Amino acid sequence: MKKILILLITLLTVAVQAQKRPEWLKKAVFYQIYPSSFQDIDGNGIGDIKGTLSRLDYIQSIGVNTVWFNPLFKSAFQDGGYDVIDYYLVDPRFGTNTDLVEFIKDAHKRGMRVILDLVAGHSSDQSEWFKQSKEADNNLHYSDYYIWAQVKPNDLPPQEASKWVEANAPRAKYYVKNFYNSQPALNYGYANPNPNHPWEQSIDASGPQAVRRELQNIILFWMEKGVDGFRVDMAASLIKNDPDKSATIALWKKLTAWFDKKFPEGVLIAEWFNPTQAIEGGFDIDFYLSGSLFSSRGRGTQTPSRVYFDKAGTGDFATWYKTYIGHYESTAGKGYVSVPTGNHDNPRIATATRNDGPQLKVAMTFLLTLPGAPFIYYGDEIGLKFIPNLPSIEGSNVRSGERTPMQWDNTQNAGFSTAPIEKIYIQQDPDPNRPTVANQDKDPSSLLNFVRALLAFRAKSEALGNDGEFKMIGDINEPYPLIYMRTKGNEKYIIGLNPSDKPVEAEITTLNSVRVKYSFGTNEKCSYKPGKTVDKIKIPSVSAAIFKVQ
Ligand code: NOJ
Repeated sequence: MKKILILLITLLTVAVQAQKRPEWLKKAVFYQIYPSSFQDIDGNGIGDIKGTLSRLDYIQSIGVNTVWFNPLFKSAFQDGGYDVIDYYLVDPRFGTNTDLVEFIKDAHKRGMRVILDLVAGHSSDQSEWFKQSKEADNNLHYSDYYIWAQVKPNDLPPQEASKWVEANAPRAKYYVKNFYNSQPALNYGYANPNPNHPWEQSIDASGPQAVRRELQNIILFWMEKGVDGFRVDMAASLIKNDPDKSATIALWKKLTAWFDKKFPEGVLIAEWFNPTQAIEGGFDIDFYLSGSLFSSRGRGTQTPSRVYFDKAGTGDFATWYKTYIGHYESTAGKGYVSVPTGNHDNPRIATATRNDGPQLKVAMTFLLTLPGAPFIYYGDEIGLKFIPNLPSIEGSNVRSGERTPMQWDNTQNAGFSTAPIEKIYIQQDPDPNRPTVANQDKDPSSLLNFVRALLAFRAKSEALGNDGEFKMIGDINEPYPLIYMRTKGNEKYIIGLNPSDKPVEAEITTLNSVRVKYSFGTNEKCSYKPGKTVDKIKIPSVSAAIFKVQ
């Protein structure tokens, strides 16, 4: 009897451990908000928390249930908030800590959740930590929060050498940065430190240990204020000289285990871009960008003939897919690979000639029928356009075009702000017919209403949901139409997509189904005809369909 009891307890413990992802993640749909560009309420031309709060009804109406804010902390804004001065304080431009707590409370009342952006790898060079670390006395509390060296060896690999910044500080001549010079890397230590390199401290040295505790404090501070988790900026960057990332994965394993134990309902999302590694490190989600399917990272300048989502219909799908599927397969059942509709670092899906409702609906059908939690970048649901050649704002560099303020209605500054136009954070789309929430809200055929309907359709289906299985059915080298299946138990859907401006058809090995019927999409003329040996799928130009298999 006693033995059976012990066995039962052990089995139960194992089951609980394996089930560590919060249940709500299964239905989570994220909405990413770049706070400077969403809604300005105090009329200074920059978005704020109270403004965003005033738009929660709208956010919820889309069918999303979790808000991710890009950094809200006190910042020098030399990299749009990713250069944090004080991790424990909301930047006054956005409001106060109390405003954020109010926002979280309101979201929670609606059954929504809120996650923040945790810039774990570097602070601003204007933070008190860095200021103290620069001092000649290297025994101060923050002295070893950063990586300092007196001499720069000339045999550093180019990638590493480019990260050394000449500071001529009393402490030492050089520090190591993460991204811009104004973003000194926090010191989490080096994998296999070289004894001849005194700046390479071990992971267990007191500086790296103190930085790790600080990170945990920041997490505790905001979790206790009610946030539901974090997206961790440059999560792969923490430990230096770690080419296979094994030390960084090991560090995250410890941190995520600590977090999961303390906050079983909390989530940690990596910005790692290698889901296999991130999920091994214990993250719940990592991103895999749709990059080459929509444009290169070259700001929408890639020749359309190679872009998959283009009317030319001559694009490449296979290259993107091969890496995607590797990550999907190695993480299935353990965590999510999320392909966001866009983000603050990449051109939007509405770029250049891919800018009309039908094309964007096909793109959305793809992005919102993939497994893993969907992430909608604010404005993508109305087809907010990438605006090329805008000046750099607060370190946006070439990224201004995807950070333009939200377009709400036809009033001044599209309802984003009452400030004079020259005070607006980033210039908005100058087109008099620019998309707005107000116009699309009342148009049943708008992209916004399509996205709402698609998310509602997805929410009702386990197969199309975050945990439904994904399988490519069509030929990835002949990807027009693109055909894949989503399955959960006996529930099955086939998705067929055709971004090209020609009607296309494909034959696939028969699924031997009694019936396959069009259930949702952009064009009811899409058809699926089951046959004895092959099934025939027809998709008219620029169309997408979701077929139910019965
Ligand atoms: C990734 C962020 O998404 C990006 O906006 C930022 O510039 C870098 N990390 C540096 O923090």
